Amino acid sequence: MSAVSSKTFKALRVHTVNGTPVVRFDCLSLSDLDEGEVVIRTAYSAVNYKDAMAAKGLGKNVRTERPCVTGVDLSGVVENSSDPRFKRGDSVIVTNYALGARHDGGYAEYARVPGDWIVPLPQGLTLKEAMILGSAGLTAALAFDRLEEGGLKPTQGAVVVTGSTGGVGSLAVDIFSSHGYRVAAVTGKSDAEPYLRAIGAAEIVSRKPMLESRKAINPPRWAGAVDNVGGDVLDMVASAMLPHGRVAVCGMAAGYKLSTSVLPFILRGVDFLGINVSRALAMPERLRIWQRLATDLKPPRLDSIIRRIPFDELPSTFDQLIGSAVMGRIVVEIGGERV
Ligand SMILES: NC(=O)c1ccc[n+]([C@@H]2O[C@H](COP(=O)([O-])OP(=O)(O)OC[C@H]3O[C@@H](n4cnc5c(N)ncnc54)[C@H](OP(=O)(O)O)[C@@H]3O)[C@@H](O)[C@H]2O)c1
Repeated sequence: MSAVSSKTFKALRVHTVNGTPVVRFDCLSLSDLDEGEVVIRTAYSAVNYKDAMAAKGLGKNVRTERPCVTGVDLSGVVENSSDPRFKRGDSVIVTNYALGARHDGGYAEYARVPGDWIVPLPQGLTLKEAMILGSAGLTAALAFDRLEEGGLKPTQGAVVVTGSTGGVGSLAVDIFSSHGYRVAAVTGKSDAEPYLRAIGAAEIVSRKPMLESRKAINPPRWAGAVDNVGGDVLDMVASAMLPHGRVAVCGMAAGYKLSTSVLPFILRGVDFLGINVSRALAMPERLRIWQRLATDLKPPRLDSIIRRIPFDELPSTFDQLIGSAVMGRIVVEIGGERV
């Protein structure tokens, strides 16, 4: 028996008790984790909107039939592997797939995952930077990649980012502004301007007045958009796009429903591009986007975006995220640089 199989370690799991989610730290051993060919010592994880939803029992993304280690993102170092593509000591990233929802995830000192889910840490990123990025960075970078693939250029006009103080939003503001785009940042937070300017926003748009003034079609303002919110905000964005503007539809922080009109599509030829970094993003494409995140799309202001917390403080962050009280990306130090 190897040393790690007999070891116990700390994990944050969601239990379902009488239909209600209960989050608590448990002491586990490797055999308690779901199967996988690769055992990883977790260095860092992060807190995504999806993690907060799992902890609070919102949505139906996390399994309820037995406890699950949550955490959809992790970075760490391979402890052992029966998959020949990985060896002890390799630095790796895992995001999405079933991690932290149907398969034990990143909020534990050890993770055990299928080799097919693993991205080798690209040169140019540290394990900590990989988690400032995580699912949120992958989403923002895929949105950038798809919008530019569709022909968007800084000379065509401004890019609007909604939910701009959130994880995906902050990283999108940083990436687009550092590539020469004028970024308009939509936020519901009245005190967010200094933060948003520090990460590259040129214009701050207050969400409430923006929604109060909206009509079926509004004066054209934006050539591109990254929407993390859905609902009325996405309707407003669509209605204020320049002719042939493109909207990367990424999130649903305000809900999954969209009530809009056909006018932006028919009168202005607006396009919606669906962004999905879950299992549906094939590994070659995933590797390509991570490679871009480590090189030309590496956001330059990660130090302003990170909110680093120790593992013990993790449970207190879920309400803050659902209550929209966080700016930037919460990175959870699990083993940290010691792994
Ligand atoms: N497509 C994909 O593959 C993919 C991948 C990752 C995440 N996502 C989705 O993207 C969204 C953002 O994720 P995240 O991790 O960045 O979340 P987050 O850090 O919690 O950010 C969400 C932001 O949205 C805004 N917001 C929250 N509640 C709102 C409401 N009721 N109405 C309007 N705006 C609201 C807030 O920004 P302001 O206060 O600045 O307005 C908040 O900071 C989530 O829906 C998530 O599920 C999708």
